[in-house]
Amino acid sequence: MMIMIFFLIITISLSSQFQAVSSSIDSFVFGGCTQQKYTPDSPYESNLNSLLTSLVNSATYSSYNNFTILGSSPQDVVYGLYQCRGDLSMPDCATCVARAVSQTGSLCPTACGGAVQLQGCYVKYDNATFLGVEDKNVVLKKCGPSVEYDKEAEIVGRRDAMMGGLMSGGGAFRVGGSGEVQGLAQCVGDLSAGECQDCLSAAIGRLKTECGAANYGDMYLGKCYARFSTSATAADTGGGDHSFAKSHNDKSSNDGEKTFAIIIGLLAGIALLIIFFAFLRKVVDRNGK
Ligand SMILES: *[C@@H]1O[C@H](CO)[C@@H](O)[C@H](O)[C@H]1NC(C)=O
Ligand SMILES: *[C@@H]1O[C@H](CO)[C@@H](O)[C@H](O)[C@H]1NC(C)=O
Repeated sequence: MMIMIFFLIITISLSSQFQAVSSSIDSFVFGGCTQQKYTPDSPYESNLNSLLTSLVNSATYSSYNNFTILGSSPQDVVYGLYQCRGDLSMPDCATCVARAVSQTGSLCPTACGGAVQLQGCYVKYDNATFLGVEDKNVVLKKCGPSVEYDKEAEIVGRRDAMMGGLMSGGGAFRVGGSGEVQGLAQCVGDLSAGECQDCLSAAIGRLKTECGAANYGDMYLGKCYARFSTSATAADTGGGDHSFAKSHNDKSSNDGEKTFAIIIGLLAGIALLIIFFAFLRKVVDRNGK
């Protein structure tokens, strides 16, 4: 009995460790809902459900898509889109969108519109169209603590150079930087190239002016975002979500952690078996007497 419990505890702690390892793409950034509610079991609800299903299905083969579900009456129309971060594989994109859709459900029950941004993807739906409409309103701004004073000039210089690269990068998904300073920018796929550039210029400009000498910065506007992190970020507590640009390195070190966890699990299992057999022998010995 004790052994069973012990095993259970080990299994639980191992699986929670796996979850922590795989969760960075799925971790929550922000979410919101409209004030207006729909009536449960209404045509709007069934349209919304088919929209959300379409989003999740589409994310298995495309990193961006938009859908409009027409109802029998104009007030039942629902619009929606999702955008995965440009470096996600299709399976990761689908997992992320499914996670985001389920979060809109718990965050915005019976709201006509909702939006959720996770680290790896963005999902939005509403009964008023927003598809193809640029939106530069600040949704979330986060600036990290200032970098060490003696490194400030150097890091800010590198960051601004990296941001210049992001600005001129082109495309809806942009990464930049090297070593100490990393940057990332993403537009929602419904913007034209020109609108994307305009939105990112606004996000990058704000990051530079509003996050000063911060060791990381996140600027999420309505239809695009730009982020940067410095190597100082990793050491800072709560900066765990900001090591976004090193996804390949993170992956290999995560694989290392997984292997380590599996080995520890196996060793613990073997130790338990030895203890179990020793215990069994004692019981048998005692019964034999
Ligand atoms: C969205 O739904 C709400 C509540 O049903 C309604 O008041 C509003 O007019 C709708 N907006 C549009 C654009 O249909
Ligand atoms: C929405 O999707 C349709 C069909 O996939 C596409 O033709 C259209 O350009 C998209 N609209 C926007 C605003 O992205």
